[in-house]
Amino acid sequence: MKYITHLFLLSILILGCQFKSKQKNSNENLAKEEPTFSLNEAINYCTAQASQTLKLIPEGELLPRNITRENNNEWKYVSYKDWTSGFWPGILWYLYEYTGDEKWRQEADRYSRYLIPLSNQSAIDHDLGFQVFNSLGNGYKLTKEQEYKEIVLRTADTLATLYNPNVGTILSWPREVPGMEWPQHNTIMDNMINLELLFWASKNGGTDSLYDVAVNHAQTTMENHFREDYSSYHVVVYDTLTGKPIKKVTHQGYSDDSMWARGQAWAIYGYTMVYRETKDPKFLDFAQKVTDVYLKRLPKDMIPYWDFNVSNIPNEPKDASAAAVTASALLELSDYLDDTEKSNFYRESAEKMIRELSSSRYQSREKNTAFLLHSTGHYPNGSEIDASIIYADYYYLEALLRLKKLQEGVPVIDTAHNTRTSSGL
Ligand code: GLY
Repeated sequence: MKYITHLFLLSILILGCQFKSKQKNSNENLAKEEPTFSLNEAINYCTAQASQTLKLIPEGELLPRNITRENNNEWKYVSYKDWTSGFWPGILWYLYEYTGDEKWRQEADRYSRYLIPLSNQSAIDHDLGFQVFNSLGNGYKLTKEQEYKEIVLRTADTLATLYNPNVGTILSWPREVPGMEWPQHNTIMDNMINLELLFWASKNGGTDSLYDVAVNHAQTTMENHFREDYSSYHVVVYDTLTGKPIKKVTHQGYSDDSMWARGQAWAIYGYTMVYRETKDPKFLDFAQKVTDVYLKRLPKDMIPYWDFNVSNIPNEPKDASAAAVTASALLELSDYLDDTEKSNFYRESAEKMIRELSSSRYQSREKNTAFLLHSTGHYPNGSEIDASIIYADYYYLEALLRLKKLQEGVPVIDTAHNTRTSSGL
């Protein structure tokens, strides 16, 4: 009996050792596939990739926009007129901020200057904030270069010319949009981001009315652009004269009633920023509502498909850009909440997104010189599907730098310019 008991115990010991050894091997395999996330390594990775991209950009005032299979996995370049033109200079300014290296300042200045004509012509759409604030605006915040400031202020005035007081929003596309019949006043969710340019200008020498335009736009959008569950419509078309909504449709989403991933990400980022600029608690509350519906419906890996309602999930392209925008916004939002549990939840969610984006599944690494793979620009148009896109890289780097600041106990946003705290309405 004693012999049998010893044999039994010995077998358990051997089996246990085998299980442990298997587990160790599989952990080692996992570790080989995906080393532990290192924030510094992720930022250094972006720096190295951007250095490579710099060597590839041809002469001729061109800015990198995307890398697609259709373009043989090479960068497609655009001029300053393209809505994405501000992201590459914006990345260069972030790298200058992080490294303090003069090389990045010179490159950021060179590419930012390509966009100056935008401040000297009338507005052809609302994207002036994406373009001029991300480039020369970021440049001004870091260098206090007066010339940049004047350019940004002029551009804010240009953007404000698109404001329609009957409606209470900016006309996002004052031109024909291919495939869409929008004779009246259209406003798209993406427009929320460009309000930051107006807020900044109103606090840095521009007129008070710029602040009012931004607040009115945010308020009107809050009232008309969202369903009961706080998911957003991409486009609302208003009657130009009465200001009444005529229809609510999509342009880049799956259907008029669906939650287009990047549209919702713009809403999360936009209302977080509007709260920062106004300190009005209703916007903080709203930022959380539009965030919660997004987080609740995310897949396990925290990176959304290009639209939350698209019919063929999980066999649909992802949108890493929406994840990057959201991660960056949530790091800011988490900083504004007194409710520790909720603040931690947003911050942990953002960190999970960043870790996933920093894995071999999403980083471009040796595949190309962008930072990230798997963004979707305009699925219904068949363009930029499962691609590297420059704005995904911009918000990814922004999120990494914000996380670094949080870890160092530094405020996520430099609010030195935020001298105005009450609404002038
Ligand atoms: N129009 C901006 C975007 O595609 O998100």
